[in-house]
Amino acid sequence: MQINNQHYRTIWLDQDSPKEVCIIDQRQLPHKFVIEKLVNLDDAITAIKDMHVRGAGLIGATAGYGMYLAALNLVPENFDQELEEAGELLNRSRPTAKNLKWAVDRIISVSAEVTGVENKIERIKEEAAAIADEDAEFCRRLGQHGLAIIKELSEKKNGAPVNILTHCNAGWLAFVDYGSATAPIYAARDAGIAVHVWVDETRPWNQGAKLTAWELQQENIPNTLITDNAGGHLMQRGDVDMVIVGTDRTTYTGDVANKIGTYLKALAAKDNNIPFYVALPSSTFDWQTAKGSDIPIEERDGTEITMVSGLDRDGSQTTVTLTAPGTHALNYSFDVTPARLVTGLITERGVTPANEQSIAELFPEKRT
Ligand code: MRU
Repeated sequence: MQINNQHYRTIWLDQDSPKEVCIIDQRQLPHKFVIEKLVNLDDAITAIKDMHVRGAGLIGATAGYGMYLAALNLVPENFDQELEEAGELLNRSRPTAKNLKWAVDRIISVSAEVTGVENKIERIKEEAAAIADEDAEFCRRLGQHGLAIIKELSEKKNGAPVNILTHCNAGWLAFVDYGSATAPIYAARDAGIAVHVWVDETRPWNQGAKLTAWELQQENIPNTLITDNAGGHLMQRGDVDMVIVGTDRTTYTGDVANKIGTYLKALAAKDNNIPFYVALPSSTFDWQTAKGSDIPIEERDGTEITMVSGLDRDGSQTTVTLTAPGTHALNYSFDVTPARLVTGLITERGVTPANEQSIAELFPEKRT
């Protein structure tokens, strides 16, 4: 995707120094575009845990490269066991996004297929790159499937802009490229369809305000920032044609874990007869978990609610406290939208209703 008219992915191996992994430090956006280098496992864990990188697909890709960085420094005699330990540390860095463990398991499994430390490292490096490439390609493909839905809405509106509401950032910043919720929007723009995006600010971390609005602006997609509480009102007024969100983990029965507040948007969409779609590459499916209530929900520090960061009048980054001293805050990061509120899941293989049978028909090899 474009930043100041230059193409970037969100993660890549440094060309000149292939033992270093480059990421965009998303904590600095939209005010500063800072490329950070990860050189070891601890860097990768910190980047995921402290949200230098975030979003399901990018967390998975960072985990893949984190395993590569770990592999470079493992004791040869104890390689396999230490690789598993590195994977456990990564898995603990953020609990909800399914892509994390999926990527770690994939690396451990390819490493076990070859012998000799040099061969293993080379194989792990290839697989980390494949995970990243596949993430970008699957998002591109799901964008094409989502395009058909937007096209139909556009035709019904005789070409007037299709108003799409999204929550959090499931854009290219949350993946390696394209994004999940945004991929159909970019595909629609490329097909000459007029779109406009309502961007939820997404308290407390403000991924919508800081990341989605900036990302869409870089791509010249018309968008308007709204408070998290405004979506229902806009839907009642007829100002929303569809909702597209991402997901951090979706069960094989179609329950969707996504950024806190998604469930309320789905309820409002249902009440107003507005289609509510979830876009995801298949790496985000949890093929072992049936019920959304069994998905681990990350709880983050309450200071993310009691404090807020931004630019000072003099242009320097600053953090201020909103609340009275001693205010107790509870900060769940995700919620679960039950499958019955989801109109469809937009995947790299097509759009499917959110139920066990339809999902299994689209991904028959994943049947448990
Ligand atoms: O806490 P984050 O920023 O890592 O949360 C992830 C998200 O941005 C959203 O929930 C997103 O819609 C799903 S990730 C593609």
